[in-house]
Amino acid sequence: MVVLGIESTAHTASVGIVSENAEVLGLASDMYKPASGGIHPREAANHHVEVFPSLVERALASAKVNPRDLEAIAFAQGPGLGPCLRTGATVARTLSLLWHRPLVPVNHCVAHIEIARVLSGLDDPVLLYASGGNTQVIAHGSGRYRVLGETLDVGIGNFLDKLWISLGGQFPGGPAIERAALEGIDLLPLPYSVHGMDVAFSGMLTASQVLHARGASRENLAYSVEVTAYSMLTEITERALAHRKKEAVVLGGGVACNERLRTMVGAMAESWGHPSFAPPKALCVDNGAMIAWTGLLAWRAGVTIPVSASEVQPRQRTDLVLTPWRNG
Ligand code: ATP
Ligand code: FE2
Repeated sequence: MVVLGIESTAHTASVGIVSENAEVLGLASDMYKPASGGIHPREAANHHVEVFPSLVERALASAKVNPRDLEAIAFAQGPGLGPCLRTGATVARTLSLLWHRPLVPVNHCVAHIEIARVLSGLDDPVLLYASGGNTQVIAHGSGRYRVLGETLDVGIGNFLDKLWISLGGQFPGGPAIERAALEGIDLLPLPYSVHGMDVAFSGMLTASQVLHARGASRENLAYSVEVTAYSMLTEITERALAHRKKEAVVLGGGVACNERLRTMVGAMAESWGHPSFAPPKALCVDNGAMIAWTGLLAWRAGVTIPVSASEVQPRQRTDLVLTPWRNG
Protein backbone atom coordinates (compact mmCIF):
# COMPACT_ATOMS: atom_id res chain seq x y z
CA MET A 1 0.00 0.00 0.00
CA VAL A 2 1.36 3.41 -1.02
CA VAL A 3 -0.17 6.76 0.01
CA LEU A 4 0.60 10.31 -1.13
CA GLY A 5 0.38 13.12 1.44
CA ILE A 6 0.03 16.87 0.99
CA GLU A 7 1.28 19.29 3.68
CA SER A 8 0.55 23.03 3.50
CA THR A 9 -0.43 24.20 6.97
CA ALA A 10 2.03 27.12 7.15
CA HIS A 11 5.33 28.05 5.47
CA THR A 12 6.13 24.66 3.92
CA ALA A 13 4.50 23.11 0.86
CA SER A 14 5.41 19.44 0.72
CA VAL A 15 4.44 16.19 -0.99
CA GLY A 16 5.42 12.84 0.50
CA ILE A 17 4.91 9.26 -0.62
CA VAL A 18 5.08 6.51 1.98
CA SER A 19 4.77 2.74 1.89
CA GLU A 20 3.01 0.38 4.27
CA ASN A 21 6.19 -0.25 6.26
CA ALA A 22 6.67 3.52 6.79
CA GLU A 23 9.40 3.81 4.20
CA VAL A 24 9.57 7.32 2.74
CA LEU A 25 9.65 6.57 -0.99
CA GLY A 26 9.55 10.18 -2.13
CA LEU A 27 9.57 13.61 -0.49
CA ALA A 28 9.63 17.03 -2.15
CA SER A 29 9.31 20.25 -0.12
CA ASP A 30 9.65 23.98 -0.65
CA MET A 31 9.56 26.53 2.16
CA TYR A 32 8.22 30.06 1.80
CA LYS A 33 10.67 32.53 3.31
CA PRO A 34 9.32 36.04 3.90
CA ALA A 35 11.62 38.86 2.71
CA SER A 36 11.30 40.40 6.18
CA GLY A 37 9.30 39.74 9.35
CA GLY A 38 7.05 36.74 9.95
CA ILE A 39 4.79 34.69 7.69
CA HIS A 40 2.17 36.52 5.60
CA PRO A 41 -0.56 33.86 5.08
CA ARG A 42 -1.69 35.08 1.63
CA GLU A 43 1.87 35.34 0.32
CA ALA A 44 2.69 31.89 1.70
CA ALA A 45 -0.41 30.47 -0.02
CA ASN A 46 0.62 32.10 -3.33
CA HIS A 47 4.03 30.49 -2.95
CA HIS A 48 2.36 27.09 -2.41
CA VAL A 49 0.18 27.52 -5.53
CA GLU A 50 3.32 28.05 -7.59
CA VAL A 51 5.37 25.16 -6.25
CA PHE A 52 2.80 22.36 -5.76
CA PRO A 53 2.62 21.09 -9.38
CA SER A 54 6.36 20.51 -9.55
CA LEU A 55 6.46 19.08 -5.99
CA VAL A 56 3.89 16.43 -6.98
CA GLU A 57 5.94 15.54 -10.07
CA ARG A 58 9.21 15.43 -8.13
CA ALA A 59 7.78 13.27 -5.34
CA LEU A 60 6.31 10.77 -7.83
CA ALA A 61 9.54 10.67 -9.87
CA SER A 62 11.82 10.16 -6.86
CA ALA A 63 9.50 7.47 -5.47
CA LYS A 64 9.37 5.82 -8.92
CA VAL A 65 5.65 5.50 -8.35
CA ASN A 66 2.86 5.80 -10.87
CA PRO A 67 -0.41 7.51 -9.78
CA ARG A 68 -2.23 4.20 -10.28
CA ASP A 69 0.02 2.62 -7.60
CA LEU A 70 -1.40 5.03 -5.01
CA GLU A 71 -4.03 3.77 -2.60
CA ALA A 72 -5.20 7.14 -1.26
CA ILE A 73 -4.50 10.88 -1.18
CA ALA A 74 -4.03 12.32 2.31
CA PHE A 75 -3.96 16.02 3.15
CA ALA A 76 -3.41 18.16 6.25
CA GLN A 77 -6.89 19.40 7.12
CA GLY A 78 -5.71 21.53 10.06
CA PRO A 79 -4.65 23.23 12.20
CA GLY A 80 -2.90 26.00 10.30
CA LEU A 81 -3.27 29.18 8.29
CA GLY A 82 -6.54 29.21 6.30
CA PRO A 83 -5.17 30.34 2.90
CA CYS A 84 -2.25 27.87 3.08
CA LEU A 85 -4.49 24.96 4.15
CA ARG A 86 -6.95 25.70 1.34
CA THR A 87 -4.19 25.57 -1.25
CA GLY A 88 -3.04 22.11 -0.18
CA ALA A 89 -6.62 20.86 0.15
CA THR A 90 -7.37 22.03 -3.39
CA VAL A 91 -4.35 20.12 -4.71
CA ALA A 92 -5.41 16.99 -2.79
CA ARG A 93 -9.02 17.16 -4.01
CA THR A 94 -7.84 17.62 -7.58
CA LEU A 95 -5.55 14.58 -7.42
CA SER A 96 -8.26 12.53 -5.70
CA LEU A 97 -10.78 13.30 -8.46
CA LEU A 98 -8.25 13.01 -11.28
CA TRP A 99 -6.83 9.68 -10.17
CA HIS A 100 -10.06 8.29 -8.61
CA ARG A 101 -8.46 7.76 -5.23
CA PRO A 102 -10.09 8.30 -1.80
CA LEU A 103 -9.33 11.47 0.09
CA VAL A 104 -8.12 11.09 3.69
CA PRO A 105 -8.07 14.03 6.15
CA VAL A 106 -5.14 14.22 8.56
CA ASN A 107 -4.52 16.39 11.62
CA HIS A 108 -1.10 18.03 11.23
CA CYS A 109 -0.18 17.66 14.93
CA VAL A 110 -1.17 13.99 15.02
CA ALA A 111 0.99 13.52 11.90
CA HIS A 112 4.07 14.95 13.69
CA ILE A 113 3.36 12.43 16.46
CA GLU A 114 2.69 9.39 14.28
CA ILE A 115 5.82 9.72 12.12
CA ALA A 116 7.94 10.07 15.28
CA ARG A 117 6.19 7.10 16.88
CA VAL A 118 6.63 4.71 13.95
CA LEU A 119 10.28 5.65 13.40
CA SER A 120 11.01 5.26 17.11
CA GLY A 121 9.47 1.81 17.34
CA LEU A 122 8.16 2.91 20.76
CA ASP A 123 4.53 1.97 21.02
CA ASP A 124 3.07 4.21 23.70
CA PRO A 125 5.41 7.08 24.57
CA VAL A 126 4.84 10.53 26.02
CA LEU A 127 5.21 12.96 23.14
CA LEU A 128 6.83 16.36 23.29
CA TYR A 129 5.51 18.21 20.24
CA ALA A 130 7.50 21.41 19.88
CA SER A 131 7.04 23.36 16.67
CA GLY A 132 6.42 26.89 15.45
CA GLY A 133 2.76 27.21 16.29
CA ASN A 134 2.44 24.43 18.86
CA THR A 135 4.04 23.32 22.09
CA GLN A 136 2.29 20.38 23.72
CA VAL A 137 3.02 17.40 25.93
CA ILE A 138 0.80 14.58 24.76
CA ALA A 139 -0.06 11.02 25.68
CA HIS A 140 -2.56 8.66 24.10
CA GLY A 141 -5.61 7.57 26.08
CA SER A 142 -9.15 6.36 25.34
CA GLY A 143 -9.19 6.75 21.59
CA ARG A 144 -7.33 9.98 21.04
CA TYR A 145 -4.21 11.94 21.83
CA ARG A 146 -4.65 13.87 25.09
CA VAL A 147 -2.92 17.19 25.62
CA LEU A 148 -1.47 17.05 29.15
CA GLY A 149 0.26 20.41 29.03
CA GLU A 150 0.86 23.17 26.52
CA THR A 151 1.92 26.72 25.92
CA LEU A 152 -0.38 29.35 27.35
CA ASP A 153 0.70 31.93 24.77
CA VAL A 154 2.85 31.39 21.66
CA GLY A 155 4.41 28.19 20.34
CA ILE A 156 8.09 27.84 21.22
CA GLY A 157 9.23 28.04 17.58
CA ASN A 158 7.26 31.24 16.97
CA PHE A 159 8.80 32.64 20.14
CA LEU A 160 12.33 31.77 18.90
CA ASP A 161 11.58 33.19 15.44
CA LYS A 162 10.13 36.41 16.83
CA LEU A 163 13.01 36.87 19.26
CA TRP A 164 15.66 36.32 16.58
CA ILE A 165 13.99 38.74 14.14
CA SER A 166 13.76 41.39 16.89
CA LEU A 167 17.51 40.90 17.52
CA GLY A 168 18.17 41.72 13.86
CA GLY A 169 18.17 38.16 12.48
CA GLN A 170 16.03 36.42 9.90
CA PHE A 171 13.32 33.75 9.85
CA PRO A 172 13.62 30.92 10.85
CA GLY A 173 15.07 31.89 14.21
CA GLY A 174 15.30 28.45 15.85
CA PRO A 175 18.28 27.10 13.86
CA ALA A 176 20.07 30.49 14.00
CA ILE A 177 19.62 30.66 17.78
CA GLU A 178 20.97 27.11 18.03
CA ARG A 179 24.18 28.17 16.21
CA ALA A 180 24.52 31.43 18.20
CA ALA A 181 23.95 29.57 21.50
CA LEU A 182 27.10 27.51 20.89
CA GLU A 183 29.10 30.75 21.30
CA GLY A 184 27.26 31.82 24.48
CA ILE A 185 29.10 31.76 27.81
CA ASP A 186 26.97 33.54 30.43
CA LEU A 187 23.62 32.22 31.65
CA LEU A 188 21.49 35.37 31.95
CA PRO A 189 18.47 35.45 34.30
CA LEU A 190 15.22 34.94 32.35
CA PRO A 191 11.66 34.18 33.53
CA TYR A 192 11.13 30.44 34.00
CA SER A 193 7.38 30.16 33.36
CA VAL A 194 6.03 26.73 34.22
CA HIS A 195 2.43 26.73 35.46
CA GLY A 196 1.53 23.21 36.47
CA MET A 197 1.77 21.30 33.19
CA ASP A 198 1.74 24.46 31.06
CA VAL A 199 4.43 26.88 29.93
CA ALA A 200 4.55 30.48 28.68
CA PHE A 201 7.14 32.33 26.61
CA SER A 202 6.01 35.94 26.21
CA GLY A 203 7.69 37.05 29.46
CA MET A 204 10.96 35.54 28.28
CA LEU A 205 10.61 37.37 24.94
CA THR A 206 10.21 40.75 26.63
CA ALA A 207 12.98 40.09 29.16
CA SER A 208 15.39 39.03 26.37
CA GLN A 209 14.66 42.17 24.39
CA VAL A 210 15.24 44.33 27.49
CA LEU A 211 18.56 42.56 28.19
CA HIS A 212 19.60 43.05 24.56
CA ALA A 213 18.79 46.78 24.75
CA ARG A 214 21.04 46.90 27.84
CA GLY A 215 23.95 45.38 25.93
CA ALA A 216 23.61 41.58 26.31
CA SER A 217 25.14 39.79 23.32
CA ARG A 218 23.01 37.73 20.94
CA GLU A 219 25.17 34.70 21.75
CA ASN A 220 24.61 34.92 25.51
CA LEU A 221 20.90 35.56 24.96
CA ALA A 222 20.59 32.60 22.58
CA TYR A 223 22.36 30.33 25.07
CA SER A 224 20.25 31.53 28.02
CA VAL A 225 16.97 31.31 26.11
CA GLU A 226 17.74 27.75 24.98
CA VAL A 227 18.73 26.55 28.44
CA THR A 228 15.73 28.20 30.14
CA ALA A 229 13.05 27.34 27.57
CA TYR A 230 14.21 23.76 27.01
CA SER A 231 14.43 23.19 30.79
CA MET A 232 10.79 24.23 31.02
CA LEU A 233 9.82 21.72 28.32
CA THR A 234 11.92 18.97 29.91
CA GLU A 235 10.25 19.57 33.27
CA ILE A 236 6.68 19.19 32.02
CA THR A 237 7.65 16.18 29.90
CA GLU A 238 9.15 14.52 32.98
CA ARG A 239 6.02 15.20 35.01
CA ALA A 240 3.84 13.71 32.23
CA LEU A 241 6.00 10.55 32.24
CA ALA A 242 5.65 10.15 35.98
CA HIS A 243 1.92 10.84 36.20
CA ARG A 244 0.87 8.79 33.18
CA LYS A 245 3.32 5.98 34.01
CA LYS A 246 4.65 5.89 30.45
CA GLU A 247 8.06 4.42 29.75
CA ALA A 248 9.39 6.32 26.73
CA VAL A 249 9.59 9.82 25.26
CA VAL A 250 9.34 10.81 21.62
CA LEU A 251 9.98 14.30 20.23
CA GLY A 252 8.36 15.84 17.17
CA GLY A 253 7.88 19.20 15.43
CA GLY A 254 10.45 21.59 13.97
CA VAL A 255 12.02 22.55 17.32
CA ALA A 256 12.77 18.85 17.92
CA CYS A 257 15.59 19.39 15.37
CA ASN A 258 17.44 21.15 18.19
CA GLU A 259 20.39 19.18 19.58
CA ARG A 260 20.26 20.79 23.01
CA LEU A 261 16.57 19.96 23.42
CA ARG A 262 17.19 16.37 22.23
CA THR A 263 20.06 16.01 24.69
CA MET A 264 18.21 17.49 27.66
CA VAL A 265 15.05 15.43 27.15
CA GLY A 266 17.18 12.34 26.43
CA ALA A 267 19.14 12.77 29.67
CA MET A 268 15.93 13.24 31.66
CA ALA A 269 14.39 10.06 30.18
CA GLU A 270 17.62 8.13 30.74
CA SER A 271 17.66 9.14 34.40
CA TRP A 272 14.40 7.16 34.71
CA GLY A 273 15.81 4.29 32.65
CA HIS A 274 13.51 5.14 29.72
CA PRO A 275 14.42 5.49 26.02
CA SER A 276 13.85 8.68 24.02
CA PHE A 277 13.78 9.30 20.30
CA ALA A 278 13.63 12.19 17.82
CA PRO A 279 13.14 11.64 14.07
CA PRO A 280 15.71 12.74 11.46
CA LYS A 281 15.45 16.50 10.95
CA ALA A 282 13.74 16.33 7.53
CA LEU A 283 10.88 14.48 9.25
CA CYS A 284 10.76 16.76 12.34
CA VAL A 285 9.94 19.87 10.31
CA ASP A 286 6.70 20.08 8.33
CA ASN A 287 6.72 17.45 5.58
CA GLY A 288 4.34 15.53 3.34
CA ALA A 289 5.67 12.12 4.43
CA MET A 290 4.17 12.44 7.91
CA ILE A 291 0.80 13.33 6.34
CA ALA A 292 1.07 10.35 3.98
CA TRP A 293 1.98 7.98 6.83
CA THR A 294 -0.84 9.16 9.12
CA GLY A 295 -3.19 9.08 6.11
CA LEU A 296 -2.16 5.48 5.53
CA LEU A 297 -2.92 4.56 9.16
CA ALA A 298 -6.27 6.36 8.99
CA TRP A 299 -7.24 4.89 5.60
CA ARG A 300 -6.44 1.37 6.83
CA ALA A 301 -8.75 2.06 9.78
CA GLY A 302 -11.53 3.14 7.42
CA VAL A 303 -11.20 6.94 7.58
CA THR A 304 -12.05 8.84 4.39
CA ILE A 305 -13.91 12.02 3.49
CA PRO A 306 -15.95 13.00 0.41
CA VAL A 307 -14.58 15.97 -1.53
CA SER A 308 -17.79 17.88 -0.79
CA ALA A 309 -17.18 17.64 2.98
CA SER A 310 -13.43 18.21 2.93
CA GLU A 311 -13.26 21.83 4.05
CA VAL A 312 -10.15 22.75 6.01
CA GLN A 313 -10.17 23.18 9.81
CA PRO A 314 -7.71 25.96 10.73
CA ARG A 315 -8.31 25.43 14.47
CA GLN A 316 -8.55 21.64 14.62
CA ARG A 317 -6.96 20.63 17.93
CA THR A 318 -4.88 17.50 18.56
CA ASP A 319 -7.39 16.19 21.09
CA LEU A 320 -10.42 16.64 18.81
CA VAL A 321 -9.34 13.92 16.40
CA LEU A 322 -10.18 10.26 16.89
CA THR A 323 -7.41 7.72 16.27
CA PRO A 324 -9.21 4.48 15.27
CA TRP A 325 -5.89 2.95 14.14
CA ARG A 326 -4.74 2.90 17.78
CA ASN A 327 -7.79 1.24 19.26
CA GLY A 328 -6.48 -2.26 19.33
P1 ATP B 1 3.15 23.53 13.47
O1 ATP B 1 2.02 23.85 12.53
O2 ATP B 1 3.25 22.09 13.77
O3 ATP B 1 3.21 24.41 14.63
P2 ATP B 1 5.22 24.81 11.99
O4 ATP B 1 4.39 25.29 10.86
O5 ATP B 1 5.71 25.79 12.93
O6 ATP B 1 4.48 23.62 12.63
P3 ATP B 1 7.59 23.12 11.83
O7 ATP B 1 8.36 22.87 10.57
O8 ATP B 1 7.03 21.97 12.56
O9 ATP B 1 6.48 24.11 11.34
O10 ATP B 1 8.48 23.97 12.83
C1 ATP B 1 9.10 25.16 12.42
C2 ATP B 1 9.75 25.79 13.61
O11 ATP B 1 10.87 24.99 14.04
C3 ATP B 1 10.27 27.18 13.37
O12 ATP B 1 9.79 28.03 14.38
C4 ATP B 1 11.80 27.02 13.48
O13 ATP B 1 12.45 28.18 13.99
C5 ATP B 1 11.92 25.85 14.41
N1 ATP B 1 13.20 25.15 14.27
C6 ATP B 1 13.69 24.50 13.19
N2 ATP B 1 14.94 24.02 13.43
C7 ATP B 1 15.23 24.34 14.71
C8 ATP B 1 16.37 24.13 15.56
N3 ATP B 1 17.46 23.52 15.12
N4 ATP B 1 16.31 24.61 16.83
C9 ATP B 1 15.20 25.25 17.29
N5 ATP B 1 14.12 25.48 16.53
C10 ATP B 1 14.12 25.05 15.26
FE1 FE2 C 1 4.40 21.48 12.02
